[in-house]
Amino acid sequence: MKNFKYIIALFTLIGFTSCSNDNETYATNGETIFRTGVNIHGAVLQDISQSEIKKVHGCANCHGDNGKGKFRGGGDKQTGSITYYDLTNTSIYTPVYNDDLIKRFIDSETKSDDTHANTGVVYVMKETDKIDLINFLKTL
Ligand code: HEC
Repeated sequence: MKNFKYIIALFTLIGFTSCSNDNETYATNGETIFRTGVNIHGAVLQDISQSEIKKVHGCANCHGDNGKGKFRGGGDKQTGSITYYDLTNTSIYTPVYNDDLIKRFIDSETKSDDTHANTGVVYVMKETDKIDLINFLKTL
């Protein structure tokens, strides 16, 4: 009977530790933001009240695991590539993005050509989070 209690306690513990793992983190803060929309400290970087999409999204949800863009929800429009390599490629974006223009996009959904995009998600990020994210985009 005593052993039985220990076994129950053990399973409860395993249950708790696996549940508290909901906020997945990756090797760097930038990659964690890219994949989850939450930074490595657990802060949600999406302004949920301003976002049309209320579920927390990382960039990868809409731009693909490799950032190269993907078709969303059976739609016929593909999101653009947001690898740093492509964002700074003259044959893809005119004018090309640089670090400051990527930061501006994150802050205000303003594209490099000054037009407004509608992505459904509004982010509020600290400068350090933006820098970490951009550094990750450079690795893609
Ligand atoms: C809910 C889906 C969604 C998420 C999440 C998302 N995007 Fe996007 N993104 C879009 C869509 C859709 C567009 C195109 C909007 C348009 O052209 O009107 C876009 C456009 C962009 C553009 C502009 C490209 C251009 O055409 O000039 C950049 C840069 C960008 N996203 C970066 C990001 C980054 C960085 C993140 C994560 C912090 C992110 N996006 C998260 C859907 C998303």
